[in-house]
Amino acid sequence: MEGPNCIEIKNLCKTFANGRNIAVDNLSLTIKKGQTVGLIGADGAGKTTLLRLIDGLLLPDGGFLSVCGLDPVKDKETLAQKIGYMPQKFGLYEDLTVRENLEFYADLKNTGKDFDEMLAFAGLGAFQDRLAGKLSGGMKQKLGLICALTGNPELLLLDEPSVGVDPVSRRELLKMVKETVKNNATLVWSTAYMDEAHGFDTVVVIDKGRVIYQGRPGDLAPDSRSFEEKVIELMGGYQKKESLAAKNFIMPETKCKYTVEAVDLVKRYGDFYAVRNNSFQIKKGEIFGLLGPNGAGKSTSFKMMCGLAKPTSGTARIMGTDIVKNAAAARAHLGYMAQKFSLYPNLSVRQNLEFFAGAYGLYGSREREAVGRMTEIFGFEKSLNDDARDLPLGYKQRLSLACAIMHNPPVLFLDEPTSGVDVITRREFWNHITSLAQKGVTVLITTHFMDEAEFCDRISLFYKGQTIATGTPDRLKEKAGAKTLEEAFVNIILEQREEAA
Ligand SMILES: Nc1ncnc2c1ncn2[C@@H]1O[C@H](COP(=O)(O)OP(=O)(O)OP(=O)(O)O)[C@@H](O)[C@H]1O
Ligand SMILES: [Mg+2]
Repeated sequence: MEGPNCIEIKNLCKTFANGRNIAVDNLSLTIKKGQTVGLIGADGAGKTTLLRLIDGLLLPDGGFLSVCGLDPVKDKETLAQKIGYMPQKFGLYEDLTVRENLEFYADLKNTGKDFDEMLAFAGLGAFQDRLAGKLSGGMKQKLGLICALTGNPELLLLDEPSVGVDPVSRRELLKMVKETVKNNATLVWSTAYMDEAHGFDTVVVIDKGRVIYQGRPGDLAPDSRSFEEKVIELMGGYQKKESLAAKNFIMPETKCKYTVEAVDLVKRYGDFYAVRNNSFQIKKGEIFGLLGPNGAGKSTSFKMMCGLAKPTSGTARIMGTDIVKNAAAARAHLGYMAQKFSLYPNLSVRQNLEFFAGAYGLYGSREREAVGRMTEIFGFEKSLNDDARDLPLGYKQRLSLACAIMHNPPVLFLDEPTSGVDVITRREFWNHITSLAQKGVTVLITTHFMDEAEFCDRISLFYKGQTIATGTPDRLKEKAGAKTLEEAFVNIILEQREEAA
């Protein structure tokens, strides 16, 4: 590709923890003006650090860096007008409304305040006055993205913008961003979705702080599915092993026909129904997927079912125990992984594991065994003493999953366990989940990765607080006349939207 460079990087270095942790290691990379780049790599490979260096948020230890012909550190203010940066977190003011967040960004960029088109695009038109902190995970992500797009930036740096975004919205986001960069803006989009990366001009694969591949995605593989295999190969390969999480698991005896039941669950905030009516029954050893667009009410259902939010009406039973009437006893059967990182940010990885071991009543040798087992399964050896808050997103997810399963609960609630996790680790997570289910663990899970949803025994499609379809993955595909679950999801949701319009 000919033309001027937008980003030029030579021998860039950045270390943390007094040089102990090398995040960017002598990295060189050139990106042309107008190029769209998909950035991929393992959890902790250095993608976020690289983006933050380019945006001038971090000071490099050494090396050369030029962005839009400027120095990100010296020319920070001039560059701020040219770059639209969407961080992985802390991008929004949770105590400002949706509209106030947009106004804040428009002020920063000295640009107009006509947000209607953007809001409509992000599906947030009806929620302009809601506090950002009260949006669902995916709705926050969309708001973060339209904030980054304000003021027509020359360079867009988007750090995993599609994490937690539902399949329909993901298509819309991609379209929206491609529309924005049409006028020769440059785009760097980091992602764990291989189909997205496959759709850009260039793909850059980072490993241990270095570029290990840069080229046209089509040169690696013609279609996105085989592309995924090639990227996994580049990243060192994936070999399925016996799941250590499932190996020693012993399923307690149970006489319940259904280990998990949601009974007419309703949650109302003011006059808004987050969950209108949710009922389902799951058998021992079943993997049940609760899928649906952002804001459908999935997380709200999870929270009610594990006793963290009080239902407006209805209840749930876990191994036959009513969560509303007998919360502590019901919760004792449960492992819950929240969508939002909910561990102790100021405690180290080891301290978090020890804390949860204690909370589950594991002491002495049982605590040491559980902490050791989790450390081995999730590869925490090197990060045991790091504060949870400083972990890369994928490692936070591992730690959350570890804390949810370490006490061998017979029922697991996993709210987007793989969001923000790299492509190889996603396979490892699913190996644990399916192996645990084979041992008899009941799994209620949500995901926005439709290839993962294929591993569910049954799926309930949730829309605006209500179930609109239930069945096996094959049954849903058949019903929607679709070849893949992604297509089925998109067809069914778009049909619902049309009916409502
Ligand atoms: N405390 C609250 N006050 C008002 N509305 C809320 C509150 N908490 C959640 N909501 C709203 O309830 C709806 C459902 O949110 P929920 O988090 O359950 O969605 P979700 O299906 O998990 O979405 P996602 O896929 O984005 O995670 C959203 O419209 C959200 O803004
Ligand atoms: Mg959610």
